[in-house]
Amino acid sequence: MDTSSMKPLLLNVLGFTLLFSQIDIAFSGAVRRTGKTCTVSASINGSDDAPAILEAFRLCGTNGLIQLHEPLYHIESVMSTTGLSNVEIDLMGTMLWGTNLTYWVSSGIPLGYLNATTAWALGGDQIVFTGHDVGTLDGNGQLWYNLADGVSNYPGRPINLLVTNATDSLFTGIRFVQSQYWTMAVKDSEDIVLQGIYVNSTSNNSVPARNTDGVDTFFSNKITFKNWTVVNGDDCIALKANSTNILIQDSVFHGALGVAIGSIGQYDGVFEMIQNVTAERILAIGSRYAGYIKTWTGVPQGFPPNGGGGGVGFATNITFKDFILQKVTDNVALITQCTSFEGATGDCDTSLFQLSNITWGPGIVGTIQTDTLAAMQCSGDAPCAGISLVGFNNVVTVGAREIKCSNIIDPVFDCTGSI
Ligand SMILES: *[C@@H]1O[C@H](CO)[C@@H](O)[C@H](O)[C@H]1NC(C)=O
Ligand SMILES: *[C@@H]1O[C@H](CO)[C@@H](O)[C@H](O)[C@H]1NC(C)=O
Ligand SMILES: *[C@@H]1O[C@H](CO)[C@@H](O)[C@H](O)[C@H]1NC(C)=O
Ligand SMILES: *[C@@H]1O[C@H](CO)[C@@H](O)[C@H](O)[C@H]1NC(C)=O
Ligand SMILES: *[C@@H]1O[C@H](CO)[C@@H](O)[C@H](O)[C@H]1NC(C)=O
Ligand SMILES: *[C@@H]1O[C@H](CO)[C@@H](O)[C@H](O)[C@H]1NC(C)=O
Ligand SMILES: *[C@@H]1O[C@H](CO)[C@@H](O)[C@H](O)[C@H]1NC(C)=O
Ligand SMILES: *[C@@H]1O[C@H](CO)[C@@H](O)[C@H](O)[C@H]1NC(C)=O
Ligand SMILES: *[C@@H]1O[C@H](CO)[C@@H](O)[C@H](O)[C@H]1NC(C)=O
Ligand SMILES: *[C@@H]1O[C@H](CO)[C@@H](O)[C@H](O)[C@H]1NC(C)=O
Ligand SMILES: *[C@@H]1O[C@H](CO)[C@@H](O)[C@H](O)[C@H]1NC(C)=O
Repeated sequence: MDTSSMKPLLLNVLGFTLLFSQIDIAFSGAVRRTGKTCTVSASINGSDDAPAILEAFRLCGTNGLIQLHEPLYHIESVMSTTGLSNVEIDLMGTMLWGTNLTYWVSSGIPLGYLNATTAWALGGDQIVFTGHDVGTLDGNGQLWYNLADGVSNYPGRPINLLVTNATDSLFTGIRFVQSQYWTMAVKDSEDIVLQGIYVNSTSNNSVPARNTDGVDTFFSNKITFKNWTVVNGDDCIALKANSTNILIQDSVFHGALGVAIGSIGQYDGVFEMIQNVTAERILAIGSRYAGYIKTWTGVPQGFPPNGGGGGVGFATNITFKDFILQKVTDNVALITQCTSFEGATGDCDTSLFQLSNITWGPGIVGTIQTDTLAAMQCSGDAPCAGISLVGFNNVVTVGAREIKCSNIIDPVFDCTGSI
């Protein structure tokens, strides 16, 4: 018997009945509850720990503390822990997602967008999730990279953690390694801070770790990403449909694509927008871009997640400033409104999705490995307005210093060619 459970009993024996009545201790499977603290022990034989974790959320998910302090928890089934209120989640060990890919493909919880699913949906009000820089979510992603074998958005690959319908919450000091698909998504949420987050999804063979975005946001307002380290094979941080008032600060990106606005405009006739985004004080090491913007064309081709187009709306008031670039492989700035079903080309002037008031700089320094500082292809049917490139003279290229543009209204820089 666990000795910590003896204490209240002993107190009772000694006649501290008042004290005993204040201590509410209970066991439920592998969960020990003391007052509003639930501590989850891991199974000794490596069987699924998700039921015990769900029980802990049920018992302590309101005004409580959930302690995941063992070195390893096996997660073999989906978890939905939503509707939490004023809860602290304290993770000291690793949560390792299971290898039964057949199960996960058929059992993920729907995101309700882009046909994506998640392995863990977490939501509620006033959640503080602390990982102390050691608590780790390990998606066992290599198996998924091998399964997908480079195929984009392989159906049923789950997002590791979905923060959904959450308000006024903090995620801090959490590590995410080898995520199955996107590491995280934030959806239908407001006033969320995610800081001190380490993401590393790296394939150990020649198959790419594709679609392992650090995080994607949807239908969310006032989200702050601070002090992220991202190593992965796709967007570091991507802001998608109806993301507003987003701040990204003090982060380091290794490889991958950089900060993405989009892709967006994928659903025919649907209105979506992105407004007020600042990404600042970022170190990008070997990333493809500093910041880039991507919309689908105005002519739908196929269906989401890998096809689509024809969406309307706008992205405005977006700033990428104070970036240090180390061997960024492609461009500081990129806009494309030409995204279409894989393999489809053309229709690049058809998007009605309006891009405006987008600024790269000031404070961008370092090196890129091409001669094209910026490649900006705006749609002829919705030319871009208010595009600024500030202080690019501090970026070293491999030769020429091209700024390629199409359909930019009154550019305040010299376009050296079209695209
Ligand atoms: C592992 O332990 C759990 C209880 O913790 C039990 O239900 C399960 O049957 C055990 N599995 C194996 C394979 O021994
Ligand atoms: C994997 O999951 C599938 C679908 O849930 C199930 O039928 C199968 O028994 C599982 N395989 C193992 C080895 O547990
Ligand atoms: C979102 O969470 C709030 C409480 O935090 C709840 O009242 C509401 O029903 C939830 N909405 C959905 C769609 O789950
Ligand atoms: C690659 O990762 C897989 C899955 O985690 C592992 O089984 C394998 O040993 C690793 N291979 C190398 C070469 O590290
Ligand atoms: C959506 O995902 C499911 C599996 O979660 C898959 O069966 C289906 O083919 C996917 N649909 C599209 C259009 O990709
Ligand atoms: C940034 O996050 C890392 C963990 O990824 C942590 O070790 C470090 O202390 C954090 N830095 C600050 C200034 O909070
Ligand atoms: C990312 O993970 C890989 C594989 O585990 C490791 O070799 C690499 O050093 C990590 N990168 C960073 C920047 O932590
Ligand atoms: C724009 O976002 C910033 C955070 O980057 C926030 O401080 C500011 O209040 C937002 N502006 C509006 C009008 O909401
Ligand atoms: C996005 O937000 C706008 C403005 O609030 C709203 O009109 C639109 O319906 C939202 N889009 C979706 C897909 O919900
Ligand atoms: C536009 O961006 C600036 C700088 O980030 C911010 O201060 C301002 O509140 C934003 N305005 C709107 C309307 O989003
Ligand atoms: C773009 O910026 C200009 C000048 O700052 C401002 O007048 C205009 O309202 C902004 N447009 C949008 C759509 O935010």
